[in-house]
Amino acid sequence: MKNIVILLSGRGSNFEAILRTARAENWEAEGLRIAAVFSNRPDAKGLATARAEGLDAFAVDHKAFATREAFDEELARRIEPYEPAVIVLAGFMRILTPGFVSRWEGKILNIHPALLPLFPGLDTHRRCIEAGCRVHGSTVHFVSAVLDGGAIIGQSVVPVMTTDTPDTLAARLLPYEHKVYPKCVKAVAEGRVKLVDGRAVMDDATARELAVF
Ligand code: GAR
Repeated sequence: MKNIVILLSGRGSNFEAILRTARAENWEAEGLRIAAVFSNRPDAKGLATARAEGLDAFAVDHKAFATREAFDEELARRIEPYEPAVIVLAGFMRILTPGFVSRWEGKILNIHPALLPLFPGLDTHRRCIEAGCRVHGSTVHFVSAVLDGGAIIGQSVVPVMTTDTPDTLAARLLPYEHKVYPKCVKAVAEGRVKLVDGRAVMDDATARELAVF
């Protein structure tokens, strides 16, 4: 069985979308399962959801650690027994140390609420509106040592209305995050997408599948 480990910090709607898809498509029959969910915030809604769904779900509170390295060490120690094929950051709002990232290079995925390489960092919806963009989107990428800078795996795209606020734009985008992320997780877990020389390599059918409009 290939294990997926989820890291989250809050609401967990992307985690829920992956779980829903995994169940609807019976990923377990293909040897793929969501093995555990970890949160750096004990009160994260996503952690409660994971527990209610009967998954292994743990809090590793970053506030209990003096340094980023110490937190990441403990998180890695707790993840290691699951021998993850893929680690999915689903609204995980902590920057991971280079040590953690290199340990699972090519296996850690993140979703970012912008069409990277545009708008890395925070406040993406507001920055997209202020830039006058006519489209916005989300990007699933391999996590590298550069924040929001790893190889792009898949993207989903939505229009921007002239009346949009950051909240209305975020609300339009979220269902499209939920569409693209499960597809990317499955494709990486199945080995259809690989990190080669800093780029995500896949066949044309997979590239089409991971471009969501
Ligand atoms: C999502 O919009 C995701 O793209 C974003 O946080 C939200 C989490 O929502 N991630 C980042 O900003 C990462 N830097 P969720 O907890 O409902 O999945």
